Amino acid sequence: MMNAHITGTGSVLPKKKVTNFDLAERMDTNDEWIVSRTGIKERHIATTETTAGMAVEAAEKAMQEAGVQPEELELILVATVTADHIVPSTACEVQAALGAKNAAAMDLNAACSGFVFALNTAQAYVRAGIYKKLLIVGVETLSKVVDWSDRSTCILFGDGAGAAVLEAAEEGGIQDFVQYSDGGRGAALLCDARPVRNLFASQEYKQEYVKMDGQEVFRFAVKRVAESIDAILERNGLGTEQISLYVMHQANARIIQAVAKHLGESMEKFPMNLDHCGNTSGASVPLLLDELNRAGRLHRGDRLIFSGFGGGLTWGSIYMIW
Ligand code: COA
Repeated sequence: MMNAHITGTGSVLPKKKVTNFDLAERMDTNDEWIVSRTGIKERHIATTETTAGMAVEAAEKAMQEAGVQPEELELILVATVTADHIVPSTACEVQAALGAKNAAAMDLNAACSGFVFALNTAQAYVRAGIYKKLLIVGVETLSKVVDWSDRSTCILFGDGAGAAVLEAAEEGGIQDFVQYSDGGRGAALLCDARPVRNLFASQEYKQEYVKMDGQEVFRFAVKRVAESIDAILERNGLGTEQISLYVMHQANARIIQAVAKHLGESMEKFPMNLDHCGNTSGASVPLLLDELNRAGRLHRGDRLIFSGFGGGLTWGSIYMIW
């Protein structure tokens, strides 16, 4: 049976680095509060970069490592909630920039679970025998939608992009996944799009930027991520000693520590890039994956668990053999 196997990764961060000290000059916060509550020390913020531009750069790096030519791609999936345009999709912009003229392209919105859900979608196409070469990208310019007057959320997020090329393979790749959503709890983390305002229905409307019930999201993340990892391990008859690394969405170091504790695992198996990236939503998993790949921390045959969680609410985990 064919599975989707990652053959190349790439990532990019905006040039502008913003430390907690930089934030403290502009709002009532401080490095100690942010580091102790979240583990974040700095994040990169777009000043000239765009969502599509970062997606293309990350994609080009992943394609180069994979040795895949643009015309070979059959599907481009971009996980993002911060596209530059409503139409065309970021994926279509990536397709055009790469010259991937034979690929179908579309965006996927599952917030911070976006890249994990995109991996799952890629796996479903590969398993079904529909596509063999796919590009997936997780990219966000969250700085566009963050409320910079709300110190409890704006300090959390950063911008960036990560990409992976997936190819159908008989050995390795995605072995199994679980993914879930709970739209009934969507209000815990929301951001408005354009309001209904037309010739027939004009009305006063206050547009909200990112709004979050931090403690509710925290509790949700710890409980559901732990459950989803338990489910994927049990279904595949795996013990934690067989897992090399857990590649988790980077929202908050305390969430990751709580999941590690639940599993009885050491923090060494939970690599983090939160300290220098902040929470980059759909970009965090592929950014971390690319860092690990380039640092030589992934070896053929390693058993990896990926987990994503966030707005929607959405969450899920993947069992992959590298
Ligand atoms: N700097 C300094 N003080 C701050 C602050 C900041 N940036 N933001 C909030 N505070 C203050 C609050 O005003 C509050 O003060 P008060 O007690 O005088 O009212 C105090 O710190 C505690 O606020 P609270 O919101 O209860 O903090 P918390 O311990 O829940 O931490 C989060 C807030 C956001 C760090 C935490 O809830 C969290 O990480 N949640 C998960 C969020 C997440 O990961 N979301 C993305 C999921 S994809």
